[in-house]
Amino acid sequence: MALLPILEVPDPRLRQISTPVEAVTDETRQLIADMFETMYAAPGIGLAAVQVGVPKRLLVIDLQEPEVEEGEPVRDPRVFINPELYEHSDQDVPYTEGCLSVPDQYAEVDRPDRIRARWLDENGQQHDEEITGMLAVVLQHEMDHLEGVLFIDHLSRLKREMILRKIAKARKQAA
Ligand code: NI
Repeated sequence: MALLPILEVPDPRLRQISTPVEAVTDETRQLIADMFETMYAAPGIGLAAVQVGVPKRLLVIDLQEPEVEEGEPVRDPRVFINPELYEHSDQDVPYTEGCLSVPDQYAEVDRPDRIRARWLDENGQQHDEEITGMLAVVLQHEMDHLEGVLFIDHLSRLKREMILRKIAKARKQAA
């Protein structure tokens, strides 16, 4: 397994539209394993392939708090390949979001709290489920990445530019 470099704003590669995964192969599963390793190390709870420079419709999520039992972190890995959201509730709920590609910045975003989605898992099996709560929020955030959209795009221009300036400043100070 390997840690992959995570692209950060304003990298234009984050704005690519991801293309469907044609077939779930060993190569796909290797990428998934590397993405989980990268996400856990960051640490984060969701990662889309485009964030590691692979513009394919593939994302991984693990909402599990990093609680440790007997020395091993408890994991709940979920894989979404070619996910499609085809129904959502009219009710939006606010949730404070962050993103590994928008380091150390958080802001409230409104999204539907209940969705129906279809996707393939790492074995090519089809899923079709209603998803609610935090998983619905994170899945919608990650699916935005497949369209080249970041959570800051849901904010006002003023807030978005403030966040981008803060990141540029932090990067300058670290350099
Ligand atoms: Ni993100």
